[in-house]
Amino acid sequence: MGTIEYSNAVAVVTGGGDGIGRSIVLSLAARGATVVVADIREEAATSVAREAVDRGARSLPVAVDVSRSDQVEAMADLTFDTFGKVDILVNNAGVTTRPFCALWNASQDDLEFVIDVNLYGVVNGLRAFLPRMRTQSGRRHIVNTSSFATLYDTPGHSMYTASKAAVNGLSDVLREEFVDQGDDIGMTVLFPGRVTTDIGTTSAGLRPRRGSADREVIPYEIKRRFDQEFHEPLPPDRVGEMLLRAIEAGASYCVTHPATVDAMRRKVDEIAAGYFPTD
Ligand SMILES: NC(=O)c1ccc[n+]([C@@H]2O[C@H](COP(=O)([O-])OP(=O)(O)OC[C@H]3O[C@@H](n4cnc5c(N)ncnc54)[C@H](O)[C@@H]3O)[C@@H](O)[C@H]2O)c1
Repeated sequence: MGTIEYSNAVAVVTGGGDGIGRSIVLSLAARGATVVVADIREEAATSVAREAVDRGARSLPVAVDVSRSDQVEAMADLTFDTFGKVDILVNNAGVTTRPFCALWNASQDDLEFVIDVNLYGVVNGLRAFLPRMRTQSGRRHIVNTSSFATLYDTPGHSMYTASKAAVNGLSDVLREEFVDQGDDIGMTVLFPGRVTTDIGTTSAGLRPRRGSADREVIPYEIKRRFDQEFHEPLPPDRVGEMLLRAIEAGASYCVTHPATVDAMRRKVDEIAAGYFPTD
């Protein structure tokens, strides 16, 4: 795999207007990359693009709802028309719902909200950008943001976990497809643990109200054992640098906290023990 030359690179970061995405934008900008800051909240995108410019980078804010394939296609057209190429695509925009609630109490609207942004947002980004990225030469890189939620099963968090587990699955397959096709494209899945962003408030502001309150919701507290897995909350500003290190290392995964593997190992052991031949 080749090396990324940030000073010549064009990057697109979705959900770039805040939190983890903003941190990624600013780390890329500090290395001289041109960064498209994509966010559904136009003012947030504009403000972070301005911060990137303040760091000496070229930056373009784009207002886009990643759950809408037509809008993501239009953003890809604009990006390729403006800069001629895309070297790094970070599919990071994501939402959550609070309070935690069991799947059987979740409203249809909330289910669609989370799947449309967290899963289809990533799919739309890949489908809009990859065909043109694949025709370029030189090292390119994809980042898809998942979550520690997929590593530790959290009661009350099934919709979100399902959306992110789907991202894990498609990312791992994509990596093999790049190898198969001889594409010099790295594929890193970002697993944030507990990062102190405003995701709860921001997601609440974007969440559709229709039907959200028409069902009884049983809130679940996050279980203590889950808290123990998560370690110290991390300020979002740290994540951008972590991710760029992972990209430079060509790492398949970037985890923001040391992952305790006991629960994962138990799961693998149970899968291995789950072979029940009938003949
Ligand atoms: N903060 C955490 O503890 C944590 C943990 C695990 C995973 N994550 C994931 O990290 C990613 C970033 O989250 P964050 O904590 O920085 O949240 P954040 O709310 O601070 O930032 C997310 C950004 O995405 C934007 N966005 C939301 N829906 C969008 C849409 N449809 N189209 C375009 N932009 C949209 C928001 O406006 C916001 O600016 C998300 O995918 C999230 O699920 C976060």
